[in-house]
Amino acid sequence: MKSQALANTKTDPMIVTIQQHILQEQRKHSPQASGSFSWLLSGITLATKMTEARVRRAGLLDMVGTAGGINVQGEVQQKLDVYADEALIHCLGVRENVAIVASEESEEAITFDGRGGPGKYVVVFDPLDGSSNIDVNVSVGTIFSVLALPEGMNSVDEPEKACLQPGIKQLAAGYVVYGSSTIMVYTTGHGVHGFTLDPSFGAYVLSHENIRMPEQGTYYSSNDAYWDSFPKPYQEYLSHLRSGGMGRRYALRYIGSLVADFHRTLLRGGVFLYPPTDKNPDGKLRLLYEANPVAFIAEQAGGVATSGTQRIMEIEPTEIHQRTPLIVGGKSEMQAFEHFIEPANVLSSLAG
Ligand code: AHG
Ligand code: MN
Ligand code: MN
Repeated sequence: MKSQALANTKTDPMIVTIQQHILQEQRKHSPQASGSFSWLLSGITLATKMTEARVRRAGLLDMVGTAGGINVQGEVQQKLDVYADEALIHCLGVRENVAIVASEESEEAITFDGRGGPGKYVVVFDPLDGSSNIDVNVSVGTIFSVLALPEGMNSVDEPEKACLQPGIKQLAAGYVVYGSSTIMVYTTGHGVHGFTLDPSFGAYVLSHENIRMPEQGTYYSSNDAYWDSFPKPYQEYLSHLRSGGMGRRYALRYIGSLVADFHRTLLRGGVFLYPPTDKNPDGKLRLLYEANPVAFIAEQAGGVATSGTQRIMEIEPTEIHQRTPLIVGGKSEMQAFEHFIEPANVLSSLAG
């Protein structure tokens, strides 16, 4: 038996799977941990593998196109939005330590208590981000954030209230990009780590350890078509980047899937912006399951995330689907941003 075990370890000594990594991190940072948290995260990784299998076969499985419904945001639901949502709800629902989930696709938070489980976690997610890109083979993703069920809170009576916690309370956050390869990036507050899915044996394998955002990048990322409706300080900031004011002329990259645009910004640096616009004066992106997880990861990687008036992770949420402007990037770009976008300038320009 002993020689067999040794032979197995030698098969591929370089591989660290996401499950191994989570357990190692727990041993290092919370030696008392029961393993309950890694059980929860394995529910998320499983659901994303189920979704990735559908994304990869989308054109073959009648998985492209709309599902016929409209979600709580008034947006048309794609078939994959519905599938990814069901996969997460199922995989988290069977984990007895999950008390509540909230999804972009469901108006109300869903509670799993009542089945007798000792639920202590709240998970909020955008099951499929960038879903309008599915039908044209452009990268999409999944974003999630994990919170603790506040002490003394009854998850059956107040599921929504339990979700309304500022981003600084996140225990973990992460995303998956279903791109040219499938990668999961997560943080538990001890750095940011990336794992690429090896399709030959279906495991997420450590590929990007301790990701740091470059101090300065070469790209800005925003929907240029809304330029005319960006507040003036944002226009001035973007002109500064474009004209070489930062020592180089920034180029534009915009995919239209937050996860993909943010993933590039995380690895290559630069800045991603979804400012307030005439159509969306509070921005378009959702605080709890888009901006907060992205902000947690950005900060852990040495970057900065703001709403233009406040640090994203300090915003006290009042609704589970509330929106916020999001500006996230590397140190140099965000220092320049602060210089241009004095909160007072943004507010007066919006009022005008
Ligand atoms: P979702 O598909 O989850 O609704 O998110 C789409 C979001 C986000 O991924 C992206 O950054 C943004 O919409 C793009 O919006 P615009 O088309 O207005 O630029
Ligand atoms: Mn989204
Ligand atoms: Mn979505």
